[in-house]
Amino acid sequence: MAVDLLLGLQWGDEGKGKIVDVLTSNYNIIARFQGGPNAGHTLVFNDVKHVLHTIPSGIFHDAINLVGNGVVIDPVIFKRELEKLTELNVDFKSKLIISRKAHLILPTHRLLDAASETAKGKAKIGSTLKGIGPTYMDKTGRNGIRVGDVELKGWKDRYRNLANKHEAMISFHNVEIQYDLDELENEFFEAVEILKSLTFVDSEEYIFQAMKDAKSILAEGAQGTLLDIDFGTYPFVTSSNTTAAGACTGLGIAPTKIGDVFGIFKAYTTRVGSGPFPTELFDKIGETMGRVGQEFGATTGRPRRCGWLDLVALRYACQVNGVTQLMMMKADVLSGFKTIKVCTAYNYNGDTISHFPFNIEKQNVTPIYSELKGWKEDLTSMDNVSQLPQELNNYIIFLEKELEIPIKIVSVGPDRKQTILR
Ligand code: GDP
Ligand code: IMO
Ligand code: MG
Repeated sequence: MAVDLLLGLQWGDEGKGKIVDVLTSNYNIIARFQGGPNAGHTLVFNDVKHVLHTIPSGIFHDAINLVGNGVVIDPVIFKRELEKLTELNVDFKSKLIISRKAHLILPTHRLLDAASETAKGKAKIGSTLKGIGPTYMDKTGRNGIRVGDVELKGWKDRYRNLANKHEAMISFHNVEIQYDLDELENEFFEAVEILKSLTFVDSEEYIFQAMKDAKSILAEGAQGTLLDIDFGTYPFVTSSNTTAAGACTGLGIAPTKIGDVFGIFKAYTTRVGSGPFPTELFDKIGETMGRVGQEFGATTGRPRRCGWLDLVALRYACQVNGVTQLMMMKADVLSGFKTIKVCTAYNYNGDTISHFPFNIEKQNVTPIYSELKGWKEDLTSMDNVSQLPQELNNYIIFLEKELEIPIKIVSVGPDRKQTILR
């Protein structure tokens, strides 16, 4: 059995959580492969909104939900997520499993993130300040503490050494950071005990056996392709591989075992945090997208920057990930615009280019747009493709032609039910 992947093609928040929830009934296992609580995945059903940060978005179904080795876990945030599930009577103990090889975010990783961002001043990444960068630094620097370590004696000594080093690094930044480490550590160690009450697995072996037993698996990405550490708009990126290859390393799946790659994108573009964004709008249209689309970060509450769809970036994302099927989200948000613009190429230092270049800073790149007629109809109560306005169909067909990949799902609202299959 092959593993299907679902990942974001833009700068995150494409609606991955919603679609994983919609697709989960087709799968036995949902597995998160990278990122950490910088993610905020929103699910809406029965008029209730749920936001997940580390826990895979299949948790409200019967499937096994696996947190893979590529994920970084903050036990404190994880504990809060579990408490919410308990309030909802979700029996997570029977279906939530964690890779022993996943790395832990320590309280000092979070502090270090804050110190580093403050020290950067105007050049800051706009991090969610969840300690993601410092934790992955310790992972690749071979200093990290993994989930499996907390089952071993002596791990607290390693913790102490690492936390001491972090404190020295924090003071190196020479910025004002207020904290009470004793309090943070009490909270951390208490949360680690909760984590230990869950099932830890050698997840690559678990997945290998599951595939042998013909179990179906969907790997859930976090963030988006343009935030990938290698292929994103570096340095304004996150610290993991958000792209398809990240599912191989983040779960221990061989590349030959990848099945479908579902690429998910908004009908327009958003970005939260710093960094270049060629099609960003600073006018009423961008403001309307933000208001109608309720574009506020699910993790930090920050307003998301909005702009037209960028096909140069989207083509690049499809290429890097080997996308086999597309899913277009938030089509409903574009209702009412007289014209819909789509960036099909860049003017790059005077030349017209259609590939995603090394540098997409404002001074190098001006988007070249095609204009399509908009639609007025409210899409939010539509549930069949035959109801979609002709202008929206034209937009979809235009995108399919440009990207040469079919758009299989059109999402017309945040609810699980507001999902149209094509
Ligand atoms: P994720 O990080 O990719 O899971 O996406 P987020 O949950 O951070 O952001 C997507 C936001 O859009 C959430 O508030 C969703 O409830 C909402 N959403 C998802 N699909 C749609 C849609 O088709 N239409 C509208 N209006 N909202 C949607
Ligand atoms: P989901 O999974 C949108 C952005 C941050 C910042 C940069 C680095 O919900 O799509 P980090 O905390 O990783 O150091 O931040 O990446 N970012 C996201 N933007 N959605 C996310 O996740 C994001 N996770 C990180 O805003 O610009
Ligand atoms: Mg999100």
